Amino acid sequence: MGGASPAMRAGWVLVAFILAASGPGAAVVALPRFAEAPEYRNGDGCPAAVAGAGVCDPGLVHIAMTLDAHYLRGSMAAIYSLLKHASCPESLFFHFLAAADGGGPGAGAPEVGELRSALAASFPSLRFEIYPFRADAVTGLISASVRAALEAPLNYARNHLADLLPRCVPRAIYLDSDVLAVDDVRRLWETRLPAAAVVAAPEYCHANFSRYFTDAFWSDPDLGARVFAGRRRAPCYFNTGVMVIDLRRWRSGNYRHRIEQWMELQKEKRIYELGSLPPFLLVFAGEVEAVDHRWNQHGLGGDNVLGSCRPLHKGPVSLMHWSGKGKPWDRLDAGRPCPLDHTWKSYDLYVDDGDASSASAPSRTSLSSSALPAAVFSW
Ligand SMILES: *[C@@H]1O[C@H](CO)[C@@H](O)[C@H](O)[C@H]1NC(C)=O
Repeated sequence: MGGASPAMRAGWVLVAFILAASGPGAAVVALPRFAEAPEYRNGDGCPAAVAGAGVCDPGLVHIAMTLDAHYLRGSMAAIYSLLKHASCPESLFFHFLAAADGGGPGAGAPEVGELRSALAASFPSLRFEIYPFRADAVTGLISASVRAALEAPLNYARNHLADLLPRCVPRAIYLDSDVLAVDDVRRLWETRLPAAAVVAAPEYCHANFSRYFTDAFWSDPDLGARVFAGRRRAPCYFNTGVMVIDLRRWRSGNYRHRIEQWMELQKEKRIYELGSLPPFLLVFAGEVEAVDHRWNQHGLGGDNVLGSCRPLHKGPVSLMHWSGKGKPWDRLDAGRPCPLDHTWKSYDLYVDDGDASSASAPSRTSLSSSALPAAVFSW
């Protein structure tokens, strides 16, 4: 396949949805096909499962991620990497947030049942639950942003983890779908959270914190520096793609509400530019417990438009994060991978069925671009 810009790809995906919606079997949008991952088993010294405890088993490590068709290939690779490097892979429990009812009539997103089948096919013994997330829980709170992709309701799902996950789950590691673990996630799980902290994440204090907020914010005597006065430490930027969250403290402090209050204010006066990150910073900057940077080697997505590739930051690496515009699967498909994308590729479970076979399937149109009838594609 030749190169296609992300915008072109988005267009083709849209075409795929339209084709799927207008053909026979219109309600069903088939997901791409994924290979079955190798089976990983607990080694010696792993906590023994408590009979009948299920998700409430205290020996579990809880991972929360969102799940949607667009990033499913990333999620699959992320899950595979977490299992592969875990000392106790059977002790991982995944909590997936997916758009409820496929995002509503005509939204074209896969049904929760389809996602469940796809996960079970690639990871037959994976312990997981999928939680339908209602987009209307946030749509009224989202304001227009410079990068439309950042305003997808599912980006705000992390605010709702404490409401959706079972009460017996004490903490969760939230991960974006464009990450790869290359170390045992239990080390991150065991991060110590002092009593005052609700969230732990790698902080980036050299980043220019001011630029996440508007001049209107900084010049307002009731806002600006005053918002961060009295915090545990000086406010610093942190990336919300990797966070350890104490769900009990989150619930008792009603942190979703605190974040949403900032989103309400944003609708009245523009206090920040980009999507779901700034309200998190407003609530947690200076309050998060710092985690070693090895757990979020971010920015590997670089910028697809400029074609830039970012190297790893200095120091050890436990988790790689393709944040930024470029995604490794898009660059690999386009035949223009960055050097680190080859690492991602070794966890890619996606099966390219080729043009002919899938295109002739009568009732389903795959989301996979390569499965569309050749006539639809000029590249
Ligand atoms: C940080 O960003 C703000 C706002 O964009 C800018 O005014 C300021 O000069 C920047 N500071 C540094 C040290 O780059």
